Order: sequence, then C-alpha cells, then structure tokens
Amino acid sequence: MTSTVITNIGELVTNDPAATDLLGTVEQAALVIEGTKVAWVGRAADAPPADEQHDAGGRAVLPGFVDSHSHLVFAGDRSQEFAARMTGTPYAAGGIRTTVAATRAATDEQLISHVTRLVAEMRRQGTTTVEIKSGYGLTVRDEARSLAVARLFTEETTFLGAHVVPDGDPAAYVELVTGPMLDAAKEHARWIDVFCERGAFDEDQARAVLTAGAAVGLRGRLHANQLTYGPGVRLAAELGLVAVDHCTYLADEDFAALRDSGTIATLLPGVEFSTKQPYPDARRLIDAGVKVALASDCNPGSCFTSSLPLCIALAVREMGMTPAEAVHAATYVGAQALDRDDVGALTVGSRADLMILDAPTHVHLAYRPGVPLVAATWVGGRPV
Ligand code: NIG
Ligand code: FE
Repeated sequence: MTSTVITNIGELVTNDPAATDLLGTVEQAALVIEGTKVAWVGRAADAPPADEQHDAGGRAVLPGFVDSHSHLVFAGDRSQEFAARMTGTPYAAGGIRTTVAATRAATDEQLISHVTRLVAEMRRQGTTTVEIKSGYGLTVRDEARSLAVARLFTEETTFLGAHVVPDGDPAAYVELVTGPMLDAAKEHARWIDVFCERGAFDEDQARAVLTAGAAVGLRGRLHANQLTYGPGVRLAAELGLVAVDHCTYLADEDFAALRDSGTIATLLPGVEFSTKQPYPDARRLIDAGVKVALASDCNPGSCFTSSLPLCIALAVREMGMTPAEAVHAATYVGAQALDRDDVGALTVGSRADLMILDAPTHVHLAYRPGVPLVAATWVGGRPV
C-alpha cells in the first residue's frame, strides 16, 4: 500500500471530536495517508516517513465537504423563473413541474452528462461526498431511472417521488408513490424523502410515504418548513429521522422538538439567497442545542448553486454562524446527516477526502466570498 504525507500544512482542520476546539485544528501540521485512509495526523515536525511527499506550502487543509442535500438529476432550464423572482414573483412548489416535463423528455445519456458536469463542479469546490435525490421523474419509470443515474455517482441516493403531485388526484398519486414507484425505486435508493409543504404534501401524506419507505428498508429524510410554518419538522422529530432540511420557518415548539429528538436541522442558505426569503435562524438553533448541517440543495428551481463555500459565506454573513461552525456544519455534521462516520473528518481511519485551500485558514472561505479558493480536492487519498 502506498503512503503519502501531506506536509507543511499551515492549518489542518481535523474535526476531531476529542479536541478542545470545534474544528480540532492543528497548526504547522502534516497528514499521512495509507491507501485510501488517513493513517497519521499531527505536527509536521513529528511526521513519520512516507513513500510520497506533498508540500501544502503553508496552506489550509480541510475535510472534503459532505453535501447532504442535492437534486442533480434533471434536465431543462428555469433561469427565467429565477429572473422573475428577482423582480418580485414569489417562489412556489409548482415550478417543479416545469423540470419534470424536461426530465421525462431527456435521454439517460443527457441526464448522466448533466450530473457528470454538476458533480465535477462540486468537486472543484471541495465537495467529496454528495447525496443526490430523484424527484423530477414522478413516474415509476422516470423515478427508477433517475435513481439509477444518481447511483452512478454516489451511494447516498434518495427517492423523492413525493416531490410534488405531477397531475391528477393527490390520494391516487400517494398510492402510486408508496406502491409501484417505491417498488421500482428501492433497489437504487438508501433514503426516502418527502416535500412536506403547502402546495406539495401534507403531514398525513408525508407520514404514509415515510412509513412505506421504512417498511422496505429506506431511511427517512424530510423537506420541511421551507415556505411556511407547518408540521414537517415536528413529524421528523417524532419519527426520529436523522435530519430534516430547510427549517426556514420554525415555531418555538419546533426548536424544542429538534433539541429533544436530536434530529439534525440541515440549513440550505443558497435557497433563501435565490428565493429572497428570510434566512433560517441558525444561531437560535445552535444556542438551543440543535445540531446544524449546511448543504447546497443544488436544484434547478429554488437554488442552482453547487457551491458549499458560498453556503458557508452566507451562513456566516446572514445566519449568525461563526466560520468554524459553518465549516463544521458543511463537513462533520453533513456526514452525520447522512449517518456516515467514515467521512467529514480527518482523523486516523477516516477516508482521505480533503481539500487544500489557497488560503492560510478556514476563515477565508467566508472572508473571501465568491473567490475559487479550493486549490485541490482529494478523494480516497488521491487528487481528483
Ligand atoms: O429543495 N423543496 C423542494 N424541492 C427543491 C426545489 C425544487 C424545485 O424548485 O425544482 C428544494 O428547494
Ligand atoms: Fe431540496
């Protein structure tokens, strides 16, 4: 097995939970990789010898981002919808149907090439693990093929047949989602998700979908409280889901439910940026003892960014998170939101997924918004 030492790291973010600071930072650090995993972490002066040496030139090294929420399998363009929003048209769940029509009309090759481009875009911005949802097919065939495409890129695939009712009777559609569509989707998915929101699915429908998914071994996630106050966050807490996403409109009892259940609140500030909605109250969540993750929600409608550095900058500037909290939320807590303990940290035994920043510290991710600071991304111990 080849070993590689990355040395002369100005600031190494390990996310070691045993450290006294949130990010487990080590200055003047080195990291040794054996095969695909981290084998040693510490001060550069103490590093053991390795077959290959890589000089980080005093720059910062961080765990790769774990983007726990994206919708990359789609076709078509909704830039006009975005432009209209910027001059006052509100975002509504129904826009999803525009993308559904284009996605159904696309060939597998077109979908694959589109996801390839977006995943490459993510890699260039430091993302090393990505969750990808279906949700723009909404027929048995198109949901199954969307998930099969997603599986070419990640293990973290999520069946989102309950994204919106494409047409016809909502009750009949929920029957389809929980019956034949779930049957066709389950072999390609690890997770099941529902858009629990006005204009999409209500609490009972969401519960029915998540229960049917659990019965065939899919773990639940939820889109909730994105556009309005509602029951979604409390449902996620009641069901003990690992994460509930958006959490933009939270009532007092939602904060309490999240704190008591331990369900992670995944915040998606690119959405508020791109829909002109108010940002979620990350500070209040963290101060209440709720775990907060950050993800991109990259999708053609509410938020077409693949950039976790942008989300970190927004979380710091607009949501009261410290740079350290935001980086932790996009790495370590992102991994927890996917129930993964092999990624999101750079400690002995972790997968050697990392980024080298063209900057001396992690703070620059928020301090230098819009600047492409990721100099290199490594997956499984190798630059990609
Ligand atoms: O996470 N909320 C539901 N789904 C996406 C938006 C989908 C769309 O507008 O196409 C989201 O924001
Ligand atoms: Fe989403």
